[in-house]
Amino acid sequence: MPPDTALWNFVEATVRDVFRAYNFHEIRTPIFESTELFARGVGEETDIVSKEMFTWEDRARSSVGGGSDAGSEFGRGFGGGSGDGAGFGDGSGDGGGRRQMLTLRPENTAGVVRAYIEHKLWDRGLNKLFYIGPQFRRERPQKGRYRQFYQIGAEVIGPAASGSQSPARDAEILELLATLLDRVGVTGWTLELNSVGCPEDRAKFNEALRLALAPVVGKMCADCQRRAVTNPLRVFDCKVPEDQPIIETLPTISQFLDESCRAHYEEVKNILNAVGVPYVENQRLVRGLDYYTRTAFEFTHGGLGAQNAILGGGRYDGLSEALGGPAAPGIGFAIGEDRLVLSLMETASAESVVRKPDVYIAPLGAGMNRHAARLARELRRHELAANVVIELGDEAFRLKKSFEAADKMGARYILIVGENEVAADAFALKHLASGEQVTVPRGELAQRILRT
Ligand code: HAM
Repeated sequence: MPPDTALWNFVEATVRDVFRAYNFHEIRTPIFESTELFARGVGEETDIVSKEMFTWEDRARSSVGGGSDAGSEFGRGFGGGSGDGAGFGDGSGDGGGRRQMLTLRPENTAGVVRAYIEHKLWDRGLNKLFYIGPQFRRERPQKGRYRQFYQIGAEVIGPAASGSQSPARDAEILELLATLLDRVGVTGWTLELNSVGCPEDRAKFNEALRLALAPVVGKMCADCQRRAVTNPLRVFDCKVPEDQPIIETLPTISQFLDESCRAHYEEVKNILNAVGVPYVENQRLVRGLDYYTRTAFEFTHGGLGAQNAILGGGRYDGLSEALGGPAAPGIGFAIGEDRLVLSLMETASAESVVRKPDVYIAPLGAGMNRHAARLARELRRHELAANVVIELGDEAFRLKKSFEAADKMGARYILIVGENEVAADAFALKHLASGEQVTVPRGELAQRILRT
């Protein structure tokens, strides 16, 4: 609610400017998707899919076909809906309708890649897409962690021939983020960088982890005991304090990178060094989603307490294939907008970005509302009026009450519209801070108020 929404609007307007400057275009994906999309995309063993999704079974639809609502998109197979199992949704076509599991989106990368496949976006070459919107995770709410939260994200995705696999794209994303945070006024961030390699590297790493965990996993939490068998990499998501000393001793992925992943990572760092974006390497950074390959990163901010990741992202070169699409290397990120606003509030109050009225128009006495409304309309539609805020009072207010209202909302001027003013077609304009009052002919009002 106001005044905090002013900060949110300021952030969103600023990031839209930055995205425009980097040639990104907005994509709007559905708030809910087929559960299977997230299970396949994000990974069954991740905390997000195994514990945090808001999922329900959609009741059977009574008629088949004809639906043009968003819901009709779900469960439709990819590749022309051939019903060969490549599509999402467990549509159990029984002639009378179909039941399927749906989930409020916990993140938006899977949805963007689904859209990429469904709408054959490879025809456009390299897609540079951004989104701003709510995501949902069933988590224990605390400062900076909510069940409905907002993400500002971007994805760069396309066929390899479009350059989507180049380390230049990774570096450009990271440089964009540094610019974006500077532009909104977040200071004191740290970029943590790692490479999580390709699937073959991770298979070797997982094997090494399994071996390293075998003698110690009995002392770890139940989740880790399960992960050690199903997907050892996810042990790094563990937050249990007693398990941390064991996790510290485990091998790191950097030891398992193959030559091409190593070269990719080096080139990302070379470009970052060349453009002057500072980073620290964190070999334990594996991110909580399964789709990552090669570059993985987070930006952290000291002022946020336990939930210190202001944003996270990375490359996901195999995600499109995992979802039944063609090869489409990609990289992206998502900023937690709630956390971004929280860190801004440390330095700027929401009040400081709220625009106050430039003028409060005060009709004085019966019959004056219509004259004040006419003046307000002229000023609001004036060519100089972009960004100008005009507030309109009421003829029922006495002069004192109008002054109090104008003062309270921090208006710059008050403009009096009384019988004498209307008759003379010139109006009393008072600058509230200095107390200076002048009479201004109608034709000069806009110049006077909007120019100063
Ligand atoms: P993520 O790390 O799961 O990545 O989320 C990104 C950011 O969303 C986090 O760094 C955090 O700021 C914010 N966030 C996550 N959960 C919550 C919550 N419960 N309350 C408040 N903020 C939260 C992704 O979602 C990936 N899709 C990012 C990505 C895009 N990777 C590639 N492309």
